Amino acid sequence: MSASSTTAAPSADLPGLLRVFADATRLRILALLAREELTAGELARCLDQAPSRVSNHLRVLREHDLLQERRVGTTIHLRGAGASGSALAAQLLETVLPSILSGPDHEADAGRLAQVLAARAVPEDFFDRVAGEYDKRGALFASGQARQRTVASLLQPGLVLADLGCGTGYMARALAPLASRLICVDQSEAMLAEAQENLRALPPTTAVEFRQGALDALPLDDASLDGAVMGMVLHHLEDAHGALVEVLRALRPGGTFAVLELAPHREAWVQETLGDRHLGLPTTEVVRTLERAGFQDVHVEPVDDRYCPRPGADEAPAALPLYIVRARKAPTP
Ligand SMILES: C[S@@+](CC[C@H](N)C(=O)[O-])C[C@H]1O[C@@H](n2cnc3c(N)ncnc32)[C@H](O)[C@@H]1O
Repeated sequence: MSASSTTAAPSADLPGLLRVFADATRLRILALLAREELTAGELARCLDQAPSRVSNHLRVLREHDLLQERRVGTTIHLRGAGASGSALAAQLLETVLPSILSGPDHEADAGRLAQVLAARAVPEDFFDRVAGEYDKRGALFASGQARQRTVASLLQPGLVLADLGCGTGYMARALAPLASRLICVDQSEAMLAEAQENLRALPPTTAVEFRQGALDALPLDDASLDGAVMGMVLHHLEDAHGALVEVLRALRPGGTFAVLELAPHREAWVQETLGDRHLGLPTTEVVRTLERAGFQDVHVEPVDDRYCPRPGADEAPAALPLYIVRARKAPTP
C-alpha cells in the first residue's frame, strides 16, 4: 500500500522516536511549545522543574528534530518543530497532542504558563518609568498593619511593653504591633477610655490592657516589662524622679525605656490649653534625672518632627521641637 500525502514513510528511527514520546515530561514540553514560544528558563517555570532536568529533555528533543530555535541576542526561544521537523515526528505529535492538551498535567502547566506570560509583559525598565508615580498607584494598603507587623516580626517575640501616661493612646497605637502584651497606664479614667476606643481599630493580635494609676506608684509588678515609653509626659510631672524610679522597678534587667519630650519653648498658652506644668524640659535635666533614678546608657536622640498644638480651633498651630532620650536598666540586678 502506498503512503498517502499525510502519512509519513516508515522510518528506521521509529523506535527512537517512540522512546522520545514515551516520557511524560517531554510530552508536557511538546504540548507547551505547541502553544507558545518559550525560553528554557520559562519552560522550567511552566513545568515547575529544575532547569538542568529540563535541558536534558530539550537535548533529546533537539536530537530528534522536535525543536525549532530562534536566537535573539543571547536568548534562545524554543518552539515545537512543526513542518520543519521529520514528517513521522509531526504525525506522531499530531496524534498524541489532543490527549496531552486535555490532560491534568497540562492544566497545571497551562496555569503556570499564564503566569510566565504575564511576567513577560512587564518591561525591564518598568520601575524606572513609574518610580515618581508609584506611591499613588502601588503603595496603597487598607490599614498599614501588614507593614507594621512585618517590621515587628524582626523583633524577639513575646515582648511585654508599656505606654506610661498613655493619654488617648498616641504612642500605644505605634507600640501595639511590636508587643505581644501592651499595658497602657494613665491616672485619668477618661483618657484611658479614649485610648481604649482608639485602640479598638487595631487587630487583636496584641493583648492590650488599660490600667488606671499614678506614675510614681505604677500598677505594674517588679521586673515585668521588656520596654516602656513615656511620650510627652515628663513636662506634666511635679516629681519626675519618683516616676522614673518606678519605671526602673517595673523594667526587667536589661529592659529599655524611651522618653519623647518637648524641648524648652515659650508658648505659655499650652499650660491652659494642654495642662503642661513646664514649658518643655532641657535635655540635660532629663538625662540627669534618668541617671539619678539609676538608668544606664542614657542617650539623647534628635528627632526630625515637631509637636503642633493649636491655641484655639481657628488659630495657626505651633511647631514645638522634640527630642528622644533612651536608656536601659542594668542587665544584671
Ligand atoms: C500630654 S498627655 C500624653 C499622652 C500620650 N502619651 C501622648 O504621647 O499623646 C499626658 C498624659 O499623662 C497623664 N499623666 C499626667 N501626670 C500623670 C501622673 N502623675 N500619673 C499618671 N498619668 C499622668 C495625663 O493624664 C495625660 O493623659
